[in-house]
Amino acid sequence: EIELSLRPKILAEYIGQKKVKNNLEIFIEAAKKRSEALDHVLLYGPPGLGKTTLANIIANEMEVDIKTTSGPAIERPGDLAALLTNLRPNDVLFIDEIHRLNRIVEEILYPAMEDYALDIIIGDGPNARSVRLDLPDFTLVGATTRAGLLTSPLRDRFGIMSRLEFYTKEELQRIIFRAAKVLNVEIDEIGALELARRARGTPRIANRLLKRVRDYAQVKGDGVINQEIAEAGLKMLEVDELGLDRIDRKILLTIINKFSGGPVGVNTLAAAISEEEDTIEDVYEPYLLQIGYLNRTPRGRIATELAYEHFDLNYKEE
Ligand code: ADE
Repeated sequence: EIELSLRPKILAEYIGQKKVKNNLEIFIEAAKKRSEALDHVLLYGPPGLGKTTLANIIANEMEVDIKTTSGPAIERPGDLAALLTNLRPNDVLFIDEIHRLNRIVEEILYPAMEDYALDIIIGDGPNARSVRLDLPDFTLVGATTRAGLLTSPLRDRFGIMSRLEFYTKEELQRIIFRAAKVLNVEIDEIGALELARRARGTPRIANRLLKRVRDYAQVKGDGVINQEIAEAGLKMLEVDELGLDRIDRKILLTIINKFSGGPVGVNTLAAAISEEEDTIEDVYEPYLLQIGYLNRTPRGRIATELAYEHFDLNYKEE
């Protein structure tokens, strides 16, 4: 019996990211044939594109266990040592937000990744000495929003680097159909396409819209999601024609209205809309850049002509 879950468990069920998937398929099969641990994998790209899902699939396909943690959760070297010494041969250690590891912890990771060794300091002062402990072979899977956030010594120790891309609306439509089946929701082709069009290229957003529109369909309709229900539900959620939400619109309208279309520095923009700089850069900007509504220039962010058109505003050439 197959367990039904929103997150696919095997590569064959994972929709989209064809390049990443094809590569991983080969590397996994080869590592399994040699009975070795898979080389360390760095997954990077905007949030919600399936990095955690892929990490779990990697472990499942390798037929090993996975231990999951995150950069900020590992505060001291001992926290990381505890994780590493509890792995079994070829297991996966998944570190989400790996760019947020502190420097001391990160340095423990270098010999662990390179030589499967743990260098620990015993004693202090003049008596301090370093002892090397053997670790089982393992695979580190790291996830981050941007590879550029990692220090180069850490980045260089990953043998496999996979960049996740935004999904096409056809891929998102398939993901929505799959999720609807899992959630036991009835949705038609056009309803699914409507959600897909407005999911900002992101499965996590597609699944969230599906759940909320399902609620709307149950209360205001007969439970079935068709185009009409999808449109009305999305309107209630303040998701516009393009899938932009309140904060996307606030970012663009602030650049346009308060900063004459830009350029404006991301720190100034963050202060103007009371959002974290990192949230703007990691969560909101990537999709606005991808659809060509926002541009990055050396002097800051600018709203493009397309953005002006989206809001029915006149674009003035300088
Ligand atoms: N759910 C979330 N992401 C998915 C993907 N890439 N394929 C299938 N189902 C998903």
